[in-house]
Amino acid sequence: MTSSRGSQRVLDGRCAVVTGASRGIGRAVAEELARAGARLCVTARDPEGVRETVAALRAQGADAVGVAGSVADPAHLWEVTDRAMAAHGRVDVVVNNAGTNQPYGPLMDADPDAWRTAFTVNVEAPLRLVQCAWRAWMAEHGGVVVNVCTEGAGHVGPNVGAYGTSKAALLHLTAQLAGELGPAVRVNAVSPGLVRTEMARFVWERAEQAVAAGLPTGRIGEPRDVARAVRWLASDEASWITGADLLVDGGTRVRAAAPFGGDPDAVQRRLRYQFPGA
Ligand SMILES: NC(=O)c1ccc[n+]([C@@H]2O[C@H](COP(=O)([O-])OP(=O)(O)OC[C@H]3O[C@@H](n4cnc5c(N)ncnc54)[C@H](OP(=O)(O)O)[C@@H]3O)[C@@H](O)[C@H]2O)c1
Repeated sequence: MTSSRGSQRVLDGRCAVVTGASRGIGRAVAEELARAGARLCVTARDPEGVRETVAALRAQGADAVGVAGSVADPAHLWEVTDRAMAAHGRVDVVVNNAGTNQPYGPLMDADPDAWRTAFTVNVEAPLRLVQCAWRAWMAEHGGVVVNVCTEGAGHVGPNVGAYGTSKAALLHLTAQLAGELGPAVRVNAVSPGLVRTEMARFVWERAEQAVAAGLPTGRIGEPRDVARAVRWLASDEASWITGADLLVDGGTRVRAAAPFGGDPDAVQRRLRYQFPGA
């Protein structure tokens, strides 16, 4: 029989690369994978944020390294892969978590160059990082990819055209890669609903109660809710799952049937009238 401690260390000895890991969902994912026994290579743009995350992971007992840089820079993605290989000798898990919700606003006002940035960060970077990991390790030894998409990719909303369209492309990329890279590599997505992070602060800060009241689970998400789903998909417990999109949204899609109603449009209202950073 496996002890409860043993059964939690489902990633013992494996190496995971997590992008956007200095705060929010990515930080929670890195910590969760470390608790599961993984060795980590984490990234984000701010070097101080990367340093602080690596220190926290090490304090947790994890074997962790980090590289600062933007996922929009192809050289950074090779650097991350090389660093993981140099430090840990393998890249078993890639979590494409870094993302942008810019440019925010109506599509007719969108600068096509800024629109392209959304696709560079949210779609092209995940593909490039998987290519790096495939060439460095996964083609020969196998592995797992988890792409962090969004529940919002399943429908449209005010001001989030670039975000939603690029995340919908990431979902399609997930399915396409799952088909192309099996059986060596499994590729799945998690799609969070509203989670308490900096990126979504402009939505939840003034509307948390209204949003929570409209959800069957009665609360907005915490980063660890998503991290646990990523850990499970990354583990062998999910060995027959690939090409899937796991909604981690507190019941956002089924809220219309919730007994107490709440305000099912609370998020859309925030997206319409509140802006990131405002
Ligand atoms: N929060 C939500 O409600 C929600 C809902 C659905 C989906 N998501 C998705 O979840 C993912 C994580 O978002 P979050 O809410 O945790 O955001 P967050 O709290 O703002 O954290 C974003 C992380 O990504 C890093 N990052 C941002 N741009 C980067 C880039 N170009 N290159 C490298 N690192 C970058 C940030 O550090 P630096 O600034 O130092 O680079 C930070 O570590 C995103 O893909 C987002 O679309 C979030």
